[in-house]
Amino acid sequence: MSGKPSLLVEEGENRVVWRLNRPDVRNAIDRTMVDALHEACAAAEAEAKIVLIVGEGTTFAAGADIAQLRERGREDALRGINSKIFDRIHRLPMPTIGLLDGYALGGGAELAYACDFRIGTPRTRLGNPETGLGILAAAGAAWRLAELVGEPLAKEILLAGRVLTAEEALSVHLLNEVVQPDDLLATGHLLADRIAAQAPLATRLMKAVFHAPRDAHPFVDDVAQAVLFETEEKHARMTAFLDRRNRKEGNR
Ligand code: COA
Repeated sequence: MSGKPSLLVEEGENRVVWRLNRPDVRNAIDRTMVDALHEACAAAEAEAKIVLIVGEGTTFAAGADIAQLRERGREDALRGINSKIFDRIHRLPMPTIGLLDGYALGGGAELAYACDFRIGTPRTRLGNPETGLGILAAAGAAWRLAELVGEPLAKEILLAGRVLTAEEALSVHLLNEVVQPDDLLATGHLLADRIAAQAPLATRLMKAVFHAPRDAHPFVDDVAQAVLFETEEKHARMTAFLDRRNRKEGNR
């Protein structure tokens, strides 16, 4: 072990940047990184911060660590090491933004799919080569990818080894935006600024309600709205809107 932390966490006021930090192995996700991600999730859950995830170097993440994967057996698979952490990331209270420069393959792609937003660069490549290694994409891609891009393209990626270029991923909106590598982090922060300008509790409940199971609607929507209708922030934001309008009318 190099002794270098596999995840660097940079705290901001309303957001946190997680930097995958194993550039020598293209940020391959090993057990230590998964543990560090759980620790980071605990903090992001407690403080309800927006999360930006970026890879150190010119790769987002080249998947789960194949050296560790090769040695894993049935019991490890049943433990759901990667599926659990990506699921936890997907359920974080505030939006998550994956900043994908270079390769996002295998578990790296599944981590990206678990985010609410994905921004790439012209050299982003997204794919799931798991079946080529004799395993399946078991940490979210099998179902989440079809939700994101539809069954036909998901099957090309999962069953026929198709790797998407940035342009292709953008055309199906798997990437929200493509920017130059030097602008990637700043673009992520601009998106985080836009999210942070909304009422935080409204954003948080909107995300939770968006992902609630079909049967929970519309009850869950109504309950979440009931909570928001009683907040001071809703009253203040609506009053500010109406006051602005009244002022405009007064100036006519
Ligand atoms: N797990 C463990 N090690 C990995 C890795 C992974 N998923 N991906 C890359 N590495 C290591 C390589 O073994 C190599 O180590 P070395 O320097 O000790 O030889 C180092 O990272 C650099 O990789 P390399 O292949 O030389 O870099 P590249 O820039 O030419 O290619 C990739 C980058 C991502 C295309 C290529 O590394 C790759 O295909 N990785 C595996 C992707 C994959 O199948 N992921 C699914 C896992 S489920």
